[in-house]
Amino acid sequence: MAKKYVPEPFRIKMVETIKMTTKEEREEALKKAHYNMFNLAGEDCYIDLLTDSGTNAMSQDQWAGVMRGDEAYAGGKSYYKLVEAGQDIFGYKFIQPVHQGRAAEKVLFPLLLGPGKFSISNMHFDTTRAHVELAGARAIDCVCPEAKDPSMIAPFKGNMDVEKLEALINEHGKENIGMVVMTVTNNSAGGQPVQMKNIRETAAICKKYGIHLNIDAARYAENAWLLKLRDDECRDKSIKEIIKEMFSYADTFTMSAKKDSIVNMGGLIGIKDNEDLYRDVKGRCISFEGFISYGGLSGRDLEALAIGLYEGLDEDYLKYRIGQMEYLASRLDDAGIAYQSPVGGHGVFVDAKKLLPHIPYYEFPAQALAIELYREAGIRTCDIGSYMMGNDPDTGKQIESEFEFTRFAIPRRVYTQAHIDIMADALIAIKERAETIKGYRITWEPPILRHFQAFLEPLEK
Ligand code: F0G
Repeated sequence: MAKKYVPEPFRIKMVETIKMTTKEEREEALKKAHYNMFNLAGEDCYIDLLTDSGTNAMSQDQWAGVMRGDEAYAGGKSYYKLVEAGQDIFGYKFIQPVHQGRAAEKVLFPLLLGPGKFSISNMHFDTTRAHVELAGARAIDCVCPEAKDPSMIAPFKGNMDVEKLEALINEHGKENIGMVVMTVTNNSAGGQPVQMKNIRETAAICKKYGIHLNIDAARYAENAWLLKLRDDECRDKSIKEIIKEMFSYADTFTMSAKKDSIVNMGGLIGIKDNEDLYRDVKGRCISFEGFISYGGLSGRDLEALAIGLYEGLDEDYLKYRIGQMEYLASRLDDAGIAYQSPVGGHGVFVDAKKLLPHIPYYEFPAQALAIELYREAGIRTCDIGSYMMGNDPDTGKQIESEFEFTRFAIPRRVYTQAHIDIMADALIAIKERAETIKGYRITWEPPILRHFQAFLEPLEK
């Protein structure tokens, strides 16, 4: 039996029309896009689940804030409002706006990493991995073993494998570990939460070896809500208290504000108290992003972000938000479709390896399923698997991903229960004809972050 849908704690004041397309039109669009979901026109997607990043619906208060945005080049009101909100929520002394998450990575990482260094994470998101590599270093993923079995039910599949972390530090030498990155929630493992105890233990290991701990904070509020639901030590705490504690264990955070801060553009770097590091961050921010008090954003963006940071913490909102994931997941349970379970924070990550067992990793099963979902119902999803992982930077060989997920990333405050039912119905229809679906081959790819741009073609066999 499907779970009860948690009703929206808002009503709709403005609507955006979306286009209905025919199967023939979608087939044509796929060909034109070289079977790359990023090459499809947004307009041709009936339900766009490519990402939950920057696709959020802002509130009336945020839109009112847009009008109040202070566009002063230096020291505008909206900047101070944002810094105060960041200091209040995260308890960090220094808050630096940047234009998005990868800008935070670009500004901060070269200050901690260089050739010969390593970054170890519970899982690097793809741009995070790219910025580690662009800084000359290497990225090592160190997620707990439970994460690797999508059908195994475990509450904190985002966790760092702390024993392995310590072994890796000893293997490579503590002086060569430039930073440890704790990604909350763990996007690449399926939006899975990281337990408070695990953050604490990771921090203790970092402290023991004198290693910098950075939180990749894109979905920190969803992590906090999932801890309130699942972590005994967090059950009676407020979301704000949980967040304060999570961040108290780290030295810095990099944040894509396009997720839990419910805006369309923005990012932050937070520095707990290291004034020297803040000075260097400011210098690099001025070079790459713009002056310190706007960091690549308009004053109106800063204002909307300052408001969105608080809206993202509202418990009625978070209950509805995670409720959407639970509802979709429960419909898939009824149909026997496997996904990273229990469902996590920002989407449902369908196990394409299980649904399409006849397609090997080098023929990209999760990408094949994403293409099929578009063909079936105009739903745009994306591959979080071998297609996204790309090639090993040292050997040039295709990496075999631990998972082959097709991600249904749900934008915040955007889609209704009826839309979610269409997602479930499309998957069920595809399951019926799963064995007829074929793998894909790459015909062209760029050297880095290839999944955004590569061309593919269907295999005939
Ligand atoms: N870290 C995590 C965990 C992310 O999920 C993302 C982006 C970034 C960093 C980079 O942030 O896009 O603002 O530059 N994730 C998006 C996604 C793109 O679809 O999951 P950005």
